Amino acid sequence: MNHFEYHGGILHAEDVPLPQIAEAVGTPVYVYSQATIERHARVFRSAVAGTGRGEPICAFAIKANPNLAVLHIMAREGFGADVVSGGELERAITAGMPPERIIFSGVGKTDAELALGLARGIGQFNIESEAEGLALAGIATARGQTANAVLRVNPDVDAQTHAKISTGKAENKFGVPIDQAHDIFARLTALPGLNLRGVALHIGSMIAELGPLEAAFKRIGALLVTLRAAGHNISHVDLGGGLGAPYKPDDVFPSPEDYGAMVRRVTSDWEVQLVFEPGRVIVANAGVLLTRVIRVKPGMSHPFVIVDAAMNDLARPAMYDAYHHFESVMAHSDSIIANIVGPICESSDTFAMERSCTQVEAGDLAVFRSAGAYGATMASTYNSRDMVPEVLVSGDKFAIVADRIAAATIMAAERVPDWI
Ligand code: LLP
Repeated sequence: MNHFEYHGGILHAEDVPLPQIAEAVGTPVYVYSQATIERHARVFRSAVAGTGRGEPICAFAIKANPNLAVLHIMAREGFGADVVSGGELERAITAGMPPERIIFSGVGKTDAELALGLARGIGQFNIESEAEGLALAGIATARGQTANAVLRVNPDVDAQTHAKISTGKAENKFGVPIDQAHDIFARLTALPGLNLRGVALHIGSMIAELGPLEAAFKRIGALLVTLRAAGHNISHVDLGGGLGAPYKPDDVFPSPEDYGAMVRRVTSDWEVQLVFEPGRVIVANAGVLLTRVIRVKPGMSHPFVIVDAAMNDLARPAMYDAYHHFESVMAHSDSIIANIVGPICESSDTFAMERSCTQVEAGDLAVFRSAGAYGATMASTYNSRDMVPEVLVSGDKFAIVADRIAAATIMAAERVPDWI
């Protein structure tokens, strides 16, 4: 459910007609609905409430949408953060997320980032290799601290998602192989400076069925039994994120409630505190990318609808062949079949080929839906385009929550050395 609906033939974000935002801020622009973010946050938290021992930690995967306003909302909803860089860590702290609910994931944390995490007193490091565990233990010991950590295990399960966002197969770079996890755990747990308290996994993103997640969780359950049999103390398991969200109007995805029920079933005898790292499922459908049609030009069999948003603003179609529903802001009963493209000078700047969509003409406003996750955060200024701005709507109010950064401002940060 989301709060982007037509009222009187005009697409609104909550109570704000999208043309009003286009008028005030220009296009392209990301528009988020606060009510949708809050709703999804609450649905997820209540779906996993009561799983594991004590209340689970819900850590929003900041990479999905790191905008400070969004993070403030998530903090208010009781979420911590899953961060993967020093930059994300500082955002989480700035947004008021309690350090003890900050989880530091990532396969290549630098020594400086590990030290930053310790300095900020974060709740947990998800270690992705034996070498990283050694580094963390060394840095923590030198600082006179003990780092809470879990070992990320690669369960070798196919998440059946796009290859570029699959992370839990043996050939992926993430975690330690499950058949080595026991030995690595035993070696790391003996180190001073490290409180190795459990394991973590994350097998991929945009997962459309619960089967692969359940299979991976069961492998972790079996590992817990062997670790405990060897005398290790296991108090935490981080189940990662990955739950998909509907992008097409007729998509059917497992709900957070289905997911929570599966987790409850599989983990009922684990006796650990659980950690969840949802990203997409919270924010994907809480945002749209609002764009204006520049012109329509004939193509071989279908017209090209050329919009003022491009692959630099929304990279997902170019990177992962991702589907983003495209429709006009003014409701239209006529439909067309069109190729929807941006102005960038390469053919990968194509949002959709031969897409059936509502009738649009030059000057019309339109949206790409489900753009709240991995949208603005992956934007660039390729082709010397402006950095796309972001707007947050709440009821009948809206505010710019990230400025449009003009190409001229970006150029102003560049230098020509005096030898040229
Ligand atoms: N935890 C870890 C360790 C992750 O690597 C990720 C996502 C998440 C949690 C959150 O996963 P989610 O619940 O959002 O599926 N840019 C790609 C998605 C990359 C996901 C990377 N990791 C896209 O646009 O589809």
